Amino acid sequence: MLAYYNGKILLLEKIQISPFDRGLLFGDSIYEVIRCYNGKIFLFDAHLKRLKESLRKTNIPEPDLSNLENVISELLKQNKLINDFAAAYIQITRGNQFPRRHAYDDSITPNIFIYVEAFPPKYDEFTKGIKAGLEEDIRWMRCDIKSTLLLPNVLSQRKAKDEGYSEIIWYRNGIITEGTHTNIFFVKDGVVITPSLNNFILPGITRKQVLNICSDNQIATDERSISINEVYSFDEIFITSTINEITPVVEFDGKLINRGVPGEITGILQKEYQKLYV
Ligand SMILES: Cc1ncc(COP(=O)(O)O)c(C=O)c1O
Repeated sequence: MLAYYNGKILLLEKIQISPFDRGLLFGDSIYEVIRCYNGKIFLFDAHLKRLKESLRKTNIPEPDLSNLENVISELLKQNKLINDFAAAYIQITRGNQFPRRHAYDDSITPNIFIYVEAFPPKYDEFTKGIKAGLEEDIRWMRCDIKSTLLLPNVLSQRKAKDEGYSEIIWYRNGIITEGTHTNIFFVKDGVVITPSLNNFILPGITRKQVLNICSDNQIATDERSISINEVYSFDEIFITSTINEITPVVEFDGKLINRGVPGEITGILQKEYQKLYV
């Protein structure tokens, strides 16, 4: 596999990462995941904007990102993924610093790592839906930053796997936040409802697309806080992300949603979303 590291496309095995990379030592880094459909880098501008926001919010100096889209295209070509479904991972760490100290020096330069991998859409989950569990959100207070500080996500995802769930949905102080790697939506009486943006959730690119689709199709939306007591009264539930697109949740915390089948509005939104990239 060929990947990009600090200006060069290299064989993965040739990439040398310092043990003093602050990303490794402190999780002092941010990232993006972008969908690539048959060589088309989907919603690139929105991802670039969020990447820059993450850098700004963490005070990581912005490296030159003017050729980022070309680098991803080149990686797709060189890894023979141009006619495939793929995903691009971009990570920017604050840089290497020795000796290990919590406070960062201004003199260090960020390290950029990019790789692409084949990633077929999860058609089975799109059509049949998934089971999701419910857990307390134990993350920090800046979940709006797409940082690589992902230990709570890692632990919850492993628990999900062990317990037969595809995703865990979190709540904080009795209020639903989001999934370990997805945003969450509910449908009630034809209205599409999702938690409002704040520092406890990631401003998902797919979430935004879904809200745009609703607005274009005269489907009412409501961005508000959602209590865990309400969740079983909803007609439909679905999760969204770059990789999971729009995935119906047919069982939530052990209870069937919409009698265990994907809901009608979820289906309409899935079709409209797929039109954006086919
Ligand atoms: C915690 C979290 N929330 C939401 C999302 C969905 O974001 P997007 O639609 O931009 O992929 C992700 C994606 O990885 C995530 O990690």
